[in-house]
Amino acid sequence: MSDENACGASCSGGCQDGASGTSAQTPAAASTVLGTITVEVQRYRPDTGAAPYLQQFEVPWGQDTSVLDALTWIKDNLDSSLAFRWSCQMAICGSCGFMLNGVPRLGCEHFVRDYAPGPLRVEPLENFAVERDLVVDLEPFMGKLAAVTPYLVPDPDVPLAGPGNLQTPEQMLAYHDYAMCINCLLCYSACPQVGLATDFLGPAAVTAAVRYNRDSRDHGDAVRLPILDSADGLWPCTFVGACSTACPKGVDPAAAIQQAKASVAASWAFEFVLPHHGADR
Ligand code: FES
Repeated sequence: MSDENACGASCSGGCQDGASGTSAQTPAAASTVLGTITVEVQRYRPDTGAAPYLQQFEVPWGQDTSVLDALTWIKDNLDSSLAFRWSCQMAICGSCGFMLNGVPRLGCEHFVRDYAPGPLRVEPLENFAVERDLVVDLEPFMGKLAAVTPYLVPDPDVPLAGPGNLQTPEQMLAYHDYAMCINCLLCYSACPQVGLATDFLGPAAVTAAVRYNRDSRDHGDAVRLPILDSADGLWPCTFVGACSTACPKGVDPAAAIQQAKASVAASWAFEFVLPHHGADR
Protein backbone atom coordinates (compact mmCIF):
# COMPACT_ATOMS: atom_id res chain seq x y z
CA MET A 1 0.00 0.00 0.00
CA SER A 2 1.36 3.39 -0.95
CA ASP A 3 1.77 5.89 1.86
CA GLU A 4 2.21 8.87 -0.43
CA ASN A 5 -0.67 11.18 -1.26
CA ALA A 6 -1.44 13.08 -4.46
CA CYS A 7 0.80 16.01 -3.53
CA GLY A 8 3.67 13.69 -2.66
CA ALA A 9 3.44 14.25 1.08
CA SER A 10 3.64 11.36 3.47
CA CYS A 11 0.46 10.62 5.41
CA SER A 12 1.70 8.02 7.83
CA GLY A 13 -0.81 8.94 10.54
CA GLY A 14 -3.91 8.27 8.54
CA CYS A 15 -3.18 5.52 6.10
CA GLN A 16 -1.07 3.01 7.96
CA ASP A 17 -2.54 -0.07 9.49
CA GLY A 18 -3.13 0.36 13.19
CA ALA A 19 -1.22 3.62 13.57
CA SER A 20 -3.29 6.66 14.43
CA GLY A 21 -0.39 9.14 14.45
CA THR A 22 -0.99 12.69 15.65
CA SER A 23 -4.70 12.67 15.99
CA ALA A 24 -7.13 15.05 14.39
CA GLN A 25 -9.45 16.56 17.00
CA THR A 26 -11.74 13.92 18.36
CA PRO A 27 -15.42 14.81 18.55
CA ALA A 28 -15.69 14.50 22.32
CA ALA A 29 -12.64 16.67 22.97
CA ALA A 30 -13.38 19.28 20.32
CA SER A 31 -16.76 20.55 21.38
CA THR A 32 -19.92 19.80 23.30
CA VAL A 33 -21.41 16.54 22.14
CA LEU A 34 -24.70 17.23 20.41
CA GLY A 35 -25.56 13.65 19.54
CA THR A 36 -24.35 10.43 17.99
CA ILE A 37 -24.52 9.38 14.37
CA THR A 38 -24.21 6.03 12.66
CA VAL A 39 -21.23 6.15 10.31
CA GLU A 40 -21.15 3.34 7.76
CA VAL A 41 -17.60 2.87 6.52
CA GLN A 42 -16.61 0.64 3.64
CA ARG A 43 -14.07 -1.91 4.74
CA TYR A 44 -12.01 -3.85 2.23
CA ARG A 45 -8.85 -5.90 2.37
CA PRO A 46 -8.13 -7.02 -1.22
CA ASP A 47 -5.34 -9.30 0.02
CA THR A 48 -7.84 -11.46 1.94
CA GLY A 49 -10.10 -12.09 -1.05
CA ALA A 50 -13.17 -11.01 0.96
CA ALA A 51 -15.69 -8.69 -0.68
CA PRO A 52 -16.07 -5.05 0.44
CA TYR A 53 -18.70 -4.46 3.14
CA LEU A 54 -20.09 -1.59 5.19
CA GLN A 55 -19.22 -1.54 8.90
CA GLN A 56 -21.32 0.59 11.24
CA PHE A 57 -19.87 2.74 14.00
CA GLU A 58 -21.70 4.96 16.50
CA VAL A 59 -19.83 8.25 16.68
CA PRO A 60 -20.43 11.22 19.01
CA TRP A 61 -20.38 14.54 17.23
CA GLY A 62 -20.38 18.22 18.03
CA GLN A 63 -20.76 21.46 16.13
CA ASP A 64 -17.15 21.36 14.87
CA THR A 65 -16.82 17.65 14.11
CA SER A 66 -15.69 17.13 10.54
CA VAL A 67 -16.12 13.82 8.76
CA LEU A 68 -12.34 13.40 8.99
CA ASP A 69 -12.60 13.96 12.77
CA ALA A 70 -15.25 11.24 12.93
CA LEU A 71 -13.04 8.77 11.04
CA THR A 72 -10.10 9.61 13.28
CA TRP A 73 -12.28 9.11 16.37
CA ILE A 74 -13.26 5.68 15.06
CA LYS A 75 -9.61 4.83 14.47
CA ASP A 76 -8.52 6.09 17.89
CA ASN A 77 -11.39 4.62 19.90
CA LEU A 78 -13.10 1.76 18.09
CA ASP A 79 -10.98 0.17 15.36
CA SER A 80 -7.34 1.07 14.85
CA SER A 81 -7.17 -1.02 11.67
CA LEU A 82 -9.29 1.44 9.70
CA ALA A 83 -7.21 2.86 6.84
CA PHE A 84 -7.67 6.28 5.28
CA ARG A 85 -5.52 9.17 4.09
CA TRP A 86 -5.29 12.65 5.52
CA SER A 87 -2.64 15.24 6.20
CA CYS A 88 -3.41 18.97 6.38
CA GLN A 89 -6.97 19.01 7.81
CA MET A 90 -7.56 22.29 5.96
CA ALA A 91 -8.56 21.40 2.38
CA ILE A 92 -5.07 22.02 1.04
CA CYS A 93 -3.26 18.69 0.64
CA GLY A 94 -6.07 16.90 -1.20
CA SER A 95 -5.56 13.63 0.67
CA CYS A 96 -8.92 13.09 2.35
CA GLY A 97 -11.27 12.64 -0.60
CA PHE A 98 -14.09 10.15 0.07
CA MET A 99 -17.55 9.39 -1.23
CA LEU A 100 -19.88 10.88 1.43
CA ASN A 101 -23.36 9.49 0.93
CA GLY A 102 -22.38 8.92 -2.70
CA VAL A 103 -20.92 12.39 -3.35
CA PRO A 104 -17.14 12.97 -3.76
CA ARG A 105 -16.04 15.39 -1.04
CA LEU A 106 -13.12 16.26 1.22
CA GLY A 107 -13.61 14.74 4.66
CA CYS A 108 -11.90 17.63 6.43
CA GLU A 109 -14.10 20.21 4.74
CA HIS A 110 -17.51 18.72 5.51
CA PHE A 111 -19.13 18.48 8.91
CA VAL A 112 -20.99 15.62 10.52
CA ARG A 113 -23.73 18.03 11.62
CA ASP A 114 -24.78 18.36 7.97
CA TYR A 115 -25.42 14.60 7.79
CA ALA A 116 -27.31 14.29 11.08
CA PRO A 117 -29.33 12.36 12.08
CA GLY A 118 -27.58 9.97 9.69
CA PRO A 119 -26.59 7.46 8.73
CA LEU A 120 -23.49 8.82 7.03
CA ARG A 121 -21.95 6.46 4.48
CA VAL A 122 -18.22 6.86 3.81
CA GLU A 123 -16.74 4.99 0.86
CA PRO A 124 -13.52 5.25 -1.17
CA LEU A 125 -13.44 7.55 -4.19
CA GLU A 126 -15.20 6.04 -7.19
CA ASN A 127 -13.31 5.20 -10.38
CA PHE A 128 -10.19 4.13 -8.47
CA ALA A 129 -8.95 0.72 -7.40
CA VAL A 130 -9.04 0.29 -3.63
CA GLU A 131 -5.83 -0.62 -1.83
CA ARG A 132 -7.44 -0.95 1.57
CA ASP A 133 -10.63 0.43 3.19
CA LEU A 134 -10.77 4.10 2.09
CA VAL A 135 -7.28 4.21 0.54
CA VAL A 136 -7.28 4.21 -3.27
CA ASP A 137 -4.51 3.55 -5.77
CA LEU A 138 -3.11 6.86 -7.03
CA GLU A 139 -0.51 5.42 -9.38
CA PRO A 140 -2.63 5.59 -12.58
CA PHE A 141 -3.35 9.25 -11.94
CA MET A 142 0.31 9.96 -11.22
CA GLY A 143 1.17 8.54 -14.65
CA LYS A 144 -1.45 10.73 -16.35
CA LEU A 145 -0.20 13.81 -14.52
CA ALA A 146 3.42 13.10 -15.43
CA ALA A 147 2.40 12.68 -19.09
CA VAL A 148 1.40 16.34 -19.44
CA THR A 149 4.78 17.69 -18.27
CA PRO A 150 3.29 19.47 -15.22
CA TYR A 151 6.05 22.00 -14.70
CA LEU A 152 7.54 25.06 -16.37
CA VAL A 153 9.57 24.25 -19.49
CA PRO A 154 12.14 26.99 -20.12
CA ASP A 155 12.96 28.45 -23.52
CA PRO A 156 16.09 26.54 -24.56
CA ASP A 157 17.30 29.51 -26.63
CA VAL A 158 16.96 32.13 -23.90
CA PRO A 159 18.95 31.64 -20.69
CA LEU A 160 17.23 32.82 -17.52
CA ALA A 161 18.03 36.43 -16.74
CA GLY A 162 19.59 37.37 -13.42
CA PRO A 163 16.45 38.44 -11.54
CA GLY A 164 14.66 35.26 -12.59
CA ASN A 165 11.52 34.57 -14.59
CA LEU A 166 9.47 37.71 -13.99
CA GLN A 167 5.75 37.94 -14.65
CA THR A 168 3.15 40.70 -14.47
CA PRO A 169 -0.01 40.31 -12.33
CA GLU A 170 -2.04 40.14 -15.55
CA GLN A 171 0.12 37.29 -16.88
CA MET A 172 -0.33 35.47 -13.58
CA LEU A 173 -4.11 35.85 -13.74
CA ALA A 174 -4.15 33.99 -17.07
CA TYR A 175 -3.53 30.69 -15.25
CA HIS A 176 -4.13 31.51 -11.58
CA ASP A 177 -7.47 29.71 -11.13
CA TYR A 178 -6.14 26.52 -12.70
CA ALA A 179 -3.13 26.62 -10.37
CA MET A 180 -5.51 26.21 -7.42
CA CYS A 181 -5.94 22.48 -8.17
CA ILE A 182 -4.86 20.34 -5.19
CA ASN A 183 -5.05 16.99 -7.03
CA CYS A 184 -7.67 15.70 -4.60
CA LEU A 185 -9.19 13.66 -7.47
CA LEU A 186 -12.80 14.40 -6.55
CA CYS A 187 -13.21 15.37 -10.22
CA TYR A 188 -12.11 11.90 -11.35
CA SER A 189 -14.70 10.31 -9.08
CA ALA A 190 -17.43 12.63 -10.34
CA CYS A 191 -16.61 12.22 -14.06
CA PRO A 192 -18.68 9.52 -15.82
CA GLN A 193 -16.16 9.38 -18.67
CA VAL A 194 -13.30 8.49 -16.31
CA GLY A 195 -15.38 5.49 -15.25
CA LEU A 196 -16.01 4.44 -18.86
CA ALA A 197 -12.65 5.27 -20.46
CA THR A 198 -10.12 4.38 -17.82
CA ASP A 199 -7.17 5.65 -19.88
CA PHE A 200 -8.78 9.10 -20.30
CA LEU A 201 -6.27 11.74 -19.17
CA GLY A 202 -9.03 13.20 -17.01
CA PRO A 203 -9.94 16.62 -15.61
CA ALA A 204 -7.02 17.37 -13.28
CA ALA A 205 -4.28 16.29 -15.69
CA VAL A 206 -5.77 18.28 -18.59
CA THR A 207 -6.19 21.27 -16.26
CA ALA A 208 -2.53 21.01 -15.28
CA ALA A 209 -1.55 21.04 -18.96
CA VAL A 210 -3.67 24.12 -19.63
CA ARG A 211 -2.34 25.81 -16.49
CA TYR A 212 1.24 25.57 -17.78
CA ASN A 213 0.34 26.30 -21.41
CA ARG A 214 -1.20 29.61 -20.26
CA ASP A 215 1.84 30.55 -18.20
CA SER A 216 3.92 33.26 -19.91
CA ARG A 217 7.12 31.68 -18.54
CA ASP A 218 6.44 28.30 -20.11
CA HIS A 219 7.54 26.97 -23.51
CA GLY A 220 6.25 23.41 -23.25
CA ASP A 221 2.97 23.59 -25.15
CA ALA A 222 4.41 21.80 -28.20
CA VAL A 223 5.31 18.89 -25.90
CA ARG A 224 1.87 18.79 -24.29
CA LEU A 225 -0.22 19.22 -27.45
CA PRO A 226 0.21 15.68 -28.84
CA ILE A 227 -0.70 14.25 -25.43
CA LEU A 228 -3.86 16.36 -25.21
CA ASP A 229 -4.76 15.59 -28.84
CA SER A 230 -4.36 11.81 -28.49
CA ALA A 231 -7.32 9.40 -28.34
CA ASP A 232 -7.04 9.21 -24.54
CA GLY A 233 -6.23 12.89 -24.17
CA LEU A 234 -9.03 15.44 -23.92
CA TRP A 235 -11.42 13.98 -26.52
CA PRO A 236 -13.23 11.47 -24.26
CA CYS A 237 -14.64 14.50 -22.39
CA THR A 238 -18.31 14.99 -23.25
CA PHE A 239 -18.63 18.23 -21.24
CA VAL A 240 -20.92 16.85 -18.56
CA GLY A 241 -19.35 19.35 -16.16
CA ALA A 242 -19.51 17.09 -13.09
CA CYS A 243 -15.79 17.71 -12.51
CA SER A 244 -16.35 21.42 -11.97
CA THR A 245 -19.31 20.78 -9.68
CA ALA A 246 -17.22 18.45 -7.52
CA CYS A 247 -14.10 20.65 -7.34
CA PRO A 248 -13.62 21.99 -3.78
CA LYS A 249 -11.33 24.80 -4.97
CA GLY A 250 -13.43 26.35 -7.74
CA VAL A 251 -10.94 25.37 -10.43
CA ASP A 252 -13.48 24.63 -13.21
CA PRO A 253 -11.69 21.77 -15.03
CA ALA A 254 -14.53 21.59 -17.57
CA ALA A 255 -13.62 25.08 -18.78
CA ALA A 256 -9.94 24.12 -18.95
CA ILE A 257 -10.77 21.12 -21.12
CA GLN A 258 -12.86 23.25 -23.51
CA GLN A 259 -9.99 25.75 -23.77
CA ALA A 260 -7.61 22.91 -24.52
CA LYS A 261 -9.95 21.67 -27.28
CA ALA A 262 -9.95 25.18 -28.77
CA SER A 263 -6.14 25.30 -28.64
CA VAL A 264 -5.86 21.92 -30.38
CA ALA A 265 -8.35 23.01 -33.05
CA ALA A 266 -6.38 26.23 -33.59
CA SER A 267 -3.23 24.17 -34.00
CA TRP A 268 -4.96 22.03 -36.64
CA ALA A 269 -6.02 25.17 -38.52
CA PHE A 270 -2.53 26.63 -38.30
CA GLU A 271 -1.03 23.43 -39.63
CA PHE A 272 -3.59 23.44 -42.49
CA VAL A 273 -2.74 27.00 -43.53
CA LEU A 274 1.00 26.77 -42.90
CA PRO A 275 1.90 23.06 -43.05
CA HIS A 276 5.21 21.96 -41.58
CA HIS A 277 5.56 25.11 -39.48
CA GLY A 278 5.15 23.32 -36.17
CA ALA A 279 2.31 23.38 -33.71
CA ASP A 280 2.26 26.72 -32.02
CA ARG A 281 -0.66 27.54 -29.77
S1 FES B 1 -6.66 16.48 5.06
FE1 FES B 1 -5.76 17.73 3.49
S2 FES B 1 -7.42 18.14 2.15
FE2 FES B 1 -8.36 17.11 3.83
